[in-house]
Amino acid sequence: MLTSSKLVLVSLVALAAAQIPANTTQSQLSVVDAEYVNSGFASQSLTGFGVSLTSTVLLTVSYDDSFGPVVDGTAYTADQVANLPSIHVTPLTASDFTSTEQYTVTLADAASLGDPDVEGNYRHFLANSMTGAPTSGSSNVTFTPSGGTTITYYAGPGPIAGTGPHRYAWLLFSQSSTFTAPSNLSTAGTSASHWNVSSYVQETGLTLIAATFFTVENGTPTGSVVATSAVNTAAIASSAGSSSTVTSAPTSTSGSTSAQATATSSTTTSGAGKVVASVAGGLFAVASMVFLL
Ligand SMILES: *[C@@H]1O[C@H](CO)[C@@H](O)[C@H](O)[C@H]1NC(C)=O
Ligand SMILES: *[C@@H]1O[C@H](CO)[C@@H](O)[C@H](O)[C@H]1NC(C)=O
Ligand SMILES: *[C@@H]1O[C@H](CO)[C@@H](O)[C@H](O)[C@H]1NC(C)=O
Ligand SMILES: *[C@@H]1O[C@H](CO)[C@@H](O)[C@H](O)[C@H]1NC(C)=O
Repeated sequence: MLTSSKLVLVSLVALAAAQIPANTTQSQLSVVDAEYVNSGFASQSLTGFGVSLTSTVLLTVSYDDSFGPVVDGTAYTADQVANLPSIHVTPLTASDFTSTEQYTVTLADAASLGDPDVEGNYRHFLANSMTGAPTSGSSNVTFTPSGGTTITYYAGPGPIAGTGPHRYAWLLFSQSSTFTAPSNLSTAGTSASHWNVSSYVQETGLTLIAATFFTVENGTPTGSVVATSAVNTAAIASSAGSSSTVTSAPTSTSGSTSAQATATSSTTTSGAGKVVASVAGGLFAVASMVFLL
């Protein structure tokens, strides 16, 4: 009895988490930052992007209504992420963003933790000078960046067989008013290829303000795959200082383990998710808290 009611709760939580949010909290943003580090993205290339993240907004990327927005650290199949997703941005408050702000959005591959790509990161999508801001007066502060110039059209992840679970991250950057695209990445339709995110950021002066990330694996790894360690969601929520989330953190964290397992099994066809599965639990815990409170 206890088990089945727990399962019902877990699936409700999973369902509730699979929405495009109307707002976000500092705790949620802090968990994303910790998971980004935990997944190795902050490390210097070739392990990561060599760019640190301090989220000021929540980035929500939705490939398909059938499985909802990307849950950080989850393993998806190449088919699930084959097409350009919709992208939503949720600031803490509506006044954090105005229509004069411009963003760069990219999808980059940092390869697997056990099998770095010596040629660098890989660019799957790049758009500059997108604009968008919350609808004034609405309690839903989420908006969709649009317009700008798409430099690299979306090329779905297709990692080489045997190279482990590749880590893909959607990165949202804030552009300064003096932003200029580098000459070799200024033309619409420039093919997907190797690049290094840190070099691009240094050249352009972009500021990373949000990320959301997942893995895709092709076949069985031939190298040694390195696991990431668990994120302590309760500690992060606590240091972020939100009183209501802190008190409920321990309960939600224990429930989130099964929620994450449910979400992973429904979106994965192989066991690839295990490598970073512990990462997925963290965001789930916070997402669950928001909807359970
Ligand atoms: C955040 O959004 C939810 C709906 O997703 C809503 O119920 C809640 O009131 C909102 N909170 C604030 C502070 O606007
Ligand atoms: C908030 O607004 C976005 C963009 O219009 C929408 O997709 C999303 O469903 C809304 N979220 C809620 C919880 O209402
Ligand atoms: C563009 O040129 C820079 C040097 O200015 C180089 O570091 C980078 O690899 C080049 N990028 C591409 C995609 O060719
Ligand atoms: C990316 O950086 C690595 C060294 O960190 C370098 O070997 C590689 O050539 C770079 N790739 C590109 C496309 O510039």
